Amino acid sequence: MTTLVFISFLSLSLLLVCEYAESNLSDSLNMLEDKSLKTEDDEIEFSDFPSWSGDERGVRVLVNVDSFGAVGDGVSDDTKAFGDAWKEACSTATAVLLVPPDRTYLVNATRFKGPCAENLIIQIDGTIVAPDEPKNWDPKNPRIWLYFANLKGVLFQGDGVIDGSGKKWWAASCKKNKTNPCVGAPTALTIDQSSNIEVKGITVQNSQQMNFAISRCESVRIFDVVVSSPEDSPNTDGIHLTASTNVVLQNCKIGTGDDCISIVSGCSNIKMESIYCGPGHGISIGSLGKDNSTGFVTAVVLDTAFLIGTTNGLRIKTWQGGSGYVRAIRYQNVQMVDVANPIIIDQFYCDSPKSCKNQTSAVEISQIMFEDISGTSKSQNAMKFACSDTVPCNHIVLNNIYLKRSDGKAAQTFCNSVKGFKYGYVQPSADCLTQSNNDSDSFINTFQQDELLKSHSLIHSEL
Ligand SMILES: *[C@@H]1O[C@H](CO)[C@@H](O)[C@H](O)[C@H]1NC(C)=O
Ligand SMILES: *[C@@H]1O[C@H](CO)[C@@H](O)[C@H](O)[C@H]1NC(C)=O
Ligand SMILES: *[C@@H]1O[C@H](CO)[C@@H](O)[C@H](O)[C@H]1NC(C)=O
Ligand SMILES: *[C@@H]1O[C@H](CO)[C@@H](O)[C@H](O)[C@H]1NC(C)=O
Ligand SMILES: *[C@@H]1O[C@H](CO)[C@@H](O)[C@H](O)[C@H]1NC(C)=O
Ligand SMILES: *[C@@H]1O[C@H](CO)[C@@H](O)[C@H](O)[C@H]1NC(C)=O
Repeated sequence: MTTLVFISFLSLSLLLVCEYAESNLSDSLNMLEDKSLKTEDDEIEFSDFPSWSGDERGVRVLVNVDSFGAVGDGVSDDTKAFGDAWKEACSTATAVLLVPPDRTYLVNATRFKGPCAENLIIQIDGTIVAPDEPKNWDPKNPRIWLYFANLKGVLFQGDGVIDGSGKKWWAASCKKNKTNPCVGAPTALTIDQSSNIEVKGITVQNSQQMNFAISRCESVRIFDVVVSSPEDSPNTDGIHLTASTNVVLQNCKIGTGDDCISIVSGCSNIKMESIYCGPGHGISIGSLGKDNSTGFVTAVVLDTAFLIGTTNGLRIKTWQGGSGYVRAIRYQNVQMVDVANPIIIDQFYCDSPKSCKNQTSAVEISQIMFEDISGTSKSQNAMKFACSDTVPCNHIVLNNIYLKRSDGKAAQTFCNSVKGFKYGYVQPSADCLTQSNNDSDSFINTFQQDELLKSHSLIHSEL
């Protein structure tokens, strides 16, 4: 299957806060009549993605979970009804699996597996809640709640809410109370091993652990999605990407207790645009290299983001002892308000109860560009480049940075073993960056080419 994903860098629309149209089923079905289902400043074309033309409306088959016995009172167990409705929708061409509005469906851990008949739409307008008691969780599915896999060309959409009822899980976390055992909890929504997927408009909240994970996927577009979990909920990453390529996140508003977005090993060609993050731990690449593992992340662009009150801003985190690389990352047009560690590369990351030893091996970090980043830092080190002594960070580029401290004191840049250069206005000054070489101009040129993603996808495919 050839999949073409075209990503334009031109759109800088400052759509920082997502807006959600009030809609109901009739609106949603009307939307299916739209020629393209695309937003005004849409830039992505998925060539193998089904398009919904008006002609198709007549043949859309509505598969309503209520018709399979779902009660929707938030108390009755609707797991079986959802499973049965899935079987029907998945095996029917141009089906719409409908979770109707104004109801709350209690559903246990469930695997919704493809492959499905073509042109499936999953329309979530109501609320889906998880049972809230960890002790009763299905032992066969300890790490998942709503899990979708092996799908091709599927659209998830609606104004509905996926609510993990995570409160008791958080209290049972070892991050909350050291006497608790450290065990993983379910991810609320997972899309695994799928391609040509769009996710539009839904809210994921109060997840047991991660809110929304995309794993082993290709060509995914997530837009107008809201993630919301409390600031003190442990390990509740907002949107987590692993081993996925050609992923676009647009106009998403994420507030949570861990990373708003985390991008881990095996990801390439990731574009994030118009992202609101806070509270949370920022927008992260990593962690990579845990337990001497090898990790790769390449060709990531974040364009236009607003971070407020987060514990980190733009972060790359790797463990000592790892290998692999993080390469060709560009952050641009980012505003920070009261963010601790607005810009941070940390090759000494250690999220473990035991302290971590320094080692000679490390995940190599190079070609990282920060451009047009401004705002306020809650900590003294507005920029921190804590790089491995044996594997220095290379080609770190700073252009037009203006970061002040929230409390008015002087901000500074911390460097350990980092090479790169700066141009334009850079505050706090970053004189500790040592010149990596003197081909700065050609390097900047390569970075400014809009071919960045394309060229790196070629590199990646050669691996
Ligand atoms: C649903 O939307 C349609 C079209 O916008 C509108 O006519 C109708 O009144 C709405 N129904 C409800 C229950 O809001
Ligand atoms: C499913 O959820 C219901 C309602 O919370 C619960 O009683 C039941 O034990 C759960 N079943 C499994 C297999 O988790
Ligand atoms: C931690 O858990 C233990 C055992 O359940 C409990 O006795 C203790 O009060 C908890 N501590 C806090 C701070 O919640
Ligand atoms: C990682 O490698 C170091 C150095 O070879 C070794 O001491 C350590 O035990 C390894 N750690 C793991 C988790 O394998
Ligand atoms: C590891 O190396 C860094 C940089 O040289 C140093 O600041 C840090 O103290 C070292 N950590 C340990 C545990 O030795
Ligand atoms: C640039 O590199 C060349 C050759 O490597 C060297 O001769 C020259 O002095 C360098 N210039 C600067 C400004 O570092």
